[in-house]
Amino acid sequence: MPFLESLRGYQSRVETALAHWLPAADIQPDHLHQAMRYAVLGDGKRIRPVLVYASGEAFGVDLAVLDGPACAVEMIHAYSLIHDDLPVMDDDDLRRGKPTVHKAFDEATAILVGDALQSLAYQLLSGNQEVVNGKTQLQMLNVLSEAAGAAGMVGGQSLDNEAIGHDLTLSELETMHSLKTGALIRSSVVLGGMSHAQASESQLGALTQYASHIGLAFQIQDDILDETSDTETLGKPQGSDRQQNKPTYVSLLGLDQARDKATELADQAIASLSGFPGSADRLRELAFYVVERIH
Ligand code: IPE
Ligand code: IPE
Ligand code: MG
Ligand code: MG
Ligand code: MG
Repeated sequence: MPFLESLRGYQSRVETALAHWLPAADIQPDHLHQAMRYAVLGDGKRIRPVLVYASGEAFGVDLAVLDGPACAVEMIHAYSLIHDDLPVMDDDDLRRGKPTVHKAFDEATAILVGDALQSLAYQLLSGNQEVVNGKTQLQMLNVLSEAAGAAGMVGGQSLDNEAIGHDLTLSELETMHSLKTGALIRSSVVLGGMSHAQASESQLGALTQYASHIGLAFQIQDDILDETSDTETLGKPQGSDRQQNKPTYVSLLGLDQARDKATELADQAIASLSGFPGSADRLRELAFYVVERIH
């Protein structure tokens, strides 16, 4: 199947699963539930759930087994975006082509939606019936909670906050990116691999390497697009980083070097998969997609 067709297939599969698991908009507390559905459903590239599916499929795992972890990572991601856009953080009014949750609803609701989505993610993962075994299920919870917290996404967001208006070294910037964006992307790929009972430590290690490279490449491309794209294409405000004086790959290296770095990382990601058969081709294609995407 051509890459774009399979990408759309994964995207529509996770959309259906998310719509199923999010609380219904007409039951109490309906205001919160409406905001949760507003935040999660609709646009969004769904790259993290797509990585769960593609990684699981590299081992021939049934997609139904992957729906739980796929939705869990997307819920953590959606929560991180809602909080990232708040006035006390990036203060952005547009997300996925529509007003951010704190604009469409209010700030208190935006905070609560993030909180509720985070809980729902763990509820899904821990209640998933389609799982390899109980021990793996606990390990999966451990992987996702570590990636989401102070040692991962939240830690990276904290570094990002502190970095405003400061010059970072390349290595400090890389640490920040690898936490704020890389951690959840790594966990997505690893959760897909863990869904296969026979995945070995060395296979999971190779997947982690692959994911570290594309995670960094993904954020570099995000920084590039913030500089070079436009608000309509992005569905979020172009130029937000520059306006807030954020250190990014582009501000540190310039556009050309940032682009070269992203391409180099995609190549390294693909090299990390050298021990995998053709069933990992979706992951290989995704490495290119991450750096070639235009939004
Ligand atoms: C945006 O993530 C925030 C970053 C971590 C760079 P995405 O670019 O995956 O956003 P959506 O989910 O497609 O809206
Ligand atoms: C956000 O990074 C990373 C998160 C953990 C949400 P950015 O602040 O660069 O993401 P955008 O550009 O607003 O999507
Ligand atoms: Mg931010
Ligand atoms: Mg932001
Ligand atoms: Mg950005």
